Amino acid sequence: MKSAADLQAMKGRQLIAMLTAYTYPVAKALNQTDIPVILVGDSVAMVELGLPSTREITMDNMQYHIAAVRRGAPDVHIIGDMPIQSDSDPDTALHNAQLLVAAGANSVKLEGAKCDVIRYLTHHKILVAGHTGLTPQTATSFKQVGGDDKTARIIVQHAKDIATAGAFMLVLEHIPSSLAAEITEAIAIPTIGIGAGRHCDGQVMVINDLIGMGDHWPLFSTQYVYVGQIIEESAKRFHREVTAGIFPPRSQK
Ligand code: KIV
Repeated sequence: MKSAADLQAMKGRQLIAMLTAYTYPVAKALNQTDIPVILVGDSVAMVELGLPSTREITMDNMQYHIAAVRRGAPDVHIIGDMPIQSDSDPDTALHNAQLLVAAGANSVKLEGAKCDVIRYLTHHKILVAGHTGLTPQTATSFKQVGGDDKTARIIVQHAKDIATAGAFMLVLEHIPSSLAAEITEAIAIPTIGIGAGRHCDGQVMVINDLIGMGDHWPLFSTQYVYVGQIIEESAKRFHREVTAGIFPPRSQK
């Protein structure tokens, strides 16, 4: 299993492929691959639980999903997302981060330049990944951010501050590729992009987007397969075969 230090050392040497996972069977499949890091993202709220935003996710939800992913992927570094407000101050964040680690996470991820929290967690031996650019827990839309110079400068400063505070990795979400390139050059920790172009140290994709589960996917994602369609076709065939008396087959005792 890759440690946070191993992942950090990949910067400039090996591009990092990260996927989200939320369930035991998906984690089990990822455990058979060379994917070095799984994110149990708070995106679980939207893509698995059908909730309107990531703001709905609770600590209980995150512990439940992290534990399932850990059972499926015993050999992969797991980053667990801190739900909104679970990191509202250093002591609250430490308590909640320790719960996510007890559930099976190797490290936690939190949104925004909460540098006092990041410093406090790392001081208490909690490994932290940062997240800047579009931060869905507080965003009012899913549009790209950082297109204007003023916002771009703020994002660059946040990225530097998060790295200085002790994060071992930084997710850059939905910013211009040129801005991601500038940040990747400016900080010593790996940047992992999602909708941030080709110039990051790695890429993360939501597994449901990758496998075509659901009915709409971000334009910056690629569907490698359409599992949702396969489920629908299988269920229709099963329905046809049961109602026609074809399933179970006569040969099945
Ligand atoms: O929750 C999540 O899936 C994430 C990714 C978008 C990086 O934070």
